[in-house]
Amino acid sequence: MTEVTVEGIAAHAGATVTLRGWLAARRSSGKLHFLALRDGTGTIQCVVSKGDVSPEAFALADHLPQESALEVTGVVRADARAPIGWELGVTDLRLLHASAEYPITPKEHGVAFLLEHRHLWIRSARQHAVLRVRAEVIRACREYLDAHGFVAFDAPILTPAACEGTTTLFPVDYFGETAYLTQSGQLYAEAGAFALRRVYCFGPTFRAEKSKTRRHLTEFWMVEPEVAFAGLDEIMDLAEDFLVHVVARVRERRAAELRLLERDPAALARVAKPFPRITYTEALERLRRRGFALAWGADLGGDEETALAQEFDRPVLVHRYPAAAKAFYMKRDPADPRLALCVDVLAPEGYGEIIGGGQREDELDALAARIREHGLPEEAFGWYLDLRRYGSVPHAGFGMGIERCVAWLCGLHHVRETIPFPRLLDRIRP
Ligand code: 4AD
Ligand code: MG
Repeated sequence: MTEVTVEGIAAHAGATVTLRGWLAARRSSGKLHFLALRDGTGTIQCVVSKGDVSPEAFALADHLPQESALEVTGVVRADARAPIGWELGVTDLRLLHASAEYPITPKEHGVAFLLEHRHLWIRSARQHAVLRVRAEVIRACREYLDAHGFVAFDAPILTPAACEGTTTLFPVDYFGETAYLTQSGQLYAEAGAFALRRVYCFGPTFRAEKSKTRRHLTEFWMVEPEVAFAGLDEIMDLAEDFLVHVVARVRERRAAELRLLERDPAALARVAKPFPRITYTEALERLRRRGFALAWGADLGGDEETALAQEFDRPVLVHRYPAAAKAFYMKRDPADPRLALCVDVLAPEGYGEIIGGGQREDELDALAARIREHGLPEEAFGWYLDLRRYGSVPHAGFGMGIERCVAWLCGLHHVRETIPFPRLLDRIRP
């Protein structure tokens, strides 16, 4: 027998069912008690009427602390005023666990307090919505890649060397040797692409970011497709198509959650192909017109990304950044070797870079020189250089940060609410 849940309640109209969940809120008016029962799939109002239940059950309903675990039996009734269209006319009530006094009350709490109680905060309606959107984003990413010939190819978390610069590494003692938590699975995905042609890795990545911004976590999840025989143009097309799919799925399957979050539906409806594509140099010109005097060569910061994205109504692809500002593995533009064949996708409305990627250096000597220039330990990259020794071909890929994508889709100010337990510069608990 499948359990009846709030989500599936419409199928039981008129029937007597038993629900199990937690008491989200309670109010009384003499002969009636209204219990908002949250069962994880939704919340339903349970009406306890004096004449319908035993005197014990009626008395119990009057004294239940918030978050008590309950088993409630009753008749499923249509109710036009209820947000879900249904309520439960209670016939029996059983206390499974009487909650201690719950720290998160309906009054406003500060973010520090809520983060301190994150293990409980995730029980609230807004957090449910965000976490369900997150799960949908992850599903849509895998769904797209699985349907387009990509093989899921898991990269290791414990790694011997840096991928995205040596300043944000988290060292780990690996039996007397120093290992690092991975910053990106890319280098391994490149090996995978030469084995399986189209692969993606998807997992947690780590950066000891000293910056306290609304876009940075120290642990975040990244999905990274990598494709053999592809260059910058192909990977830009892929990033665009991929993002359109993810946004469409979330709008389609998580409309109720987006509504609850009061996300402007029009903003997401505009996420259609083609996305504008501009070069870094063009981006600088646009920024200068907006009062940002950036010297050619500087990377774009959060404020610049926000200002630039304001010029467009959908994500914008910024390609060909100065190679000096980017990672060691990027291929130089043959038309202008000062540039890297890379792309960042900037989300609209001030959410900044959500995707970074590009074409990889596929020539042995050029890559070896880059590794030396960046002061990286050559011995740790022997295997990576091997990929340029045995059948090296053009290849490209990108990484999308799940949390930044979710923050944008949900319209949240900060990425900290987009992951169940955020890891931030000043927070590793709970
Ligand atoms: O631009 P990044 O550093 O690119 C890479 O790591 C490449 N190796 C990916 C690849 O080509 N396979 O990071 C990619 C994305 C960013 O666009 C951003 O969405 C996210 O990862 N990201 C972060 N998200 C949250 N907190 C941080 N500290 C992040 N750093 C990067
Ligand atoms: Mg980047």
